[in-house]
Amino acid sequence: LSEEAQNILDAHEWVSKLYHHLLKHTKEGKQGNEYMRNRGILDETIDAFQIGFAPNVENFTASFLEKKGFHLQTMVKAGLLTAQMEQVYKDRFRGRVIFPIRNHQGKTVAFGGRIIDNGEPKYLNSPETEIFHKGKIFYNFDLARNHIRKTGEVILFEGYLDVIAAYQAGIKNGVATLGTSLTEAQAKLLKRYVDTVIICYDADRAGLEATNKAAKLLQQSGCTVKVAKLKQGMDPDDYIRAYGNESFHKHVIEASVTYMSFHLDYLKKDFNLQVDSDRLEYIERALDEIAKIQKPIERDHYVKDLGESFEISNEVLQQEIAYRRRKID
Ligand code: GTP
Ligand code: MN
Ligand code: MN
Ligand code: MN
Ligand code: MN
Repeated sequence: LSEEAQNILDAHEWVSKLYHHLLKHTKEGKQGNEYMRNRGILDETIDAFQIGFAPNVENFTASFLEKKGFHLQTMVKAGLLTAQMEQVYKDRFRGRVIFPIRNHQGKTVAFGGRIIDNGEPKYLNSPETEIFHKGKIFYNFDLARNHIRKTGEVILFEGYLDVIAAYQAGIKNGVATLGTSLTEAQAKLLKRYVDTVIICYDADRAGLEATNKAAKLLQQSGCTVKVAKLKQGMDPDDYIRAYGNESFHKHVIEASVTYMSFHLDYLKKDFNLQVDSDRLEYIERALDEIAKIQKPIERDHYVKDLGESFEISNEVLQQEIAYRRRKID
């Protein structure tokens, strides 16, 4: 580790303690504390994730770091401060709830900051630095690692608060990417720990698109992918708040479906299944996908499902599959 990298690590350690302390014990951090409380996050969870608050003051963190003897220009590189003309140093995070991002060894290497009201951007994250490469780590991997090993499964969420709400609901093998889409490096990392990845992204258009992209990468890395489905428009945190922990376990996580099943459902979005011509087109489209499945038993399973849903004889569908397989082989 270079001297600069070590300084950046040390600074993050100090600042995360500062922000956490402010949220818990001071009037400067009271609005952050209230915000988290209103979102149903308990004290013990705030401690487990070292959640904090960066006060809405221009140079609170800057003067703190200066007093601790840090070189302020290095702190700009660290993403903790901003500078004008290398003279006026200001806090990067102001008036935000702070989620420390720990690397896989448990060291804080960056922050995600959520605005309290409705301003933009909703989340402000640290920039890439010597010690923080977003595409290579997962939020919460350090705490989740043992649970991932024990269960043989990892649950992939979209947001910090989804991981946190799930953790509070007793699901501790959850991780999230850091506001970006899953990378190949991240997919390969998961494969080293598990065979099965459950994707539990937001049930909106962006989340569905991201699910497909992530699933493809994970399958290429050799993982079995399952998808946990939520009510339209919700994310895991919304769901837990609306329906409770038990329902989330039972009706979301345990009810997760195979990626193929999710995908066949997802393809329906382009068709109006009330219209005959569209129904037929969808069936063709679904058969194309099913025909690509390598394992005969699996293939048979989805063919039967399709036949039952659309009241088409299994025999005819099997012929269609055989025809498509001849073209594949
Ligand atoms: P809440 O609204 O606090 O519940 O957050 P969310 O996690 O549900 O937000 P959303 O589904 O919109 O985004 C998912 C994740 O994408 C967040 O946890 C962030 O990591 C990231 N993200 C969201 N908004 C922004 C943004 O404005 N800027 C950046 N850089 N990342 C964002
Ligand atoms: Mn989202
Ligand atoms: Mn969300
Ligand atoms: Mn959203
Ligand atoms: Mn949310």
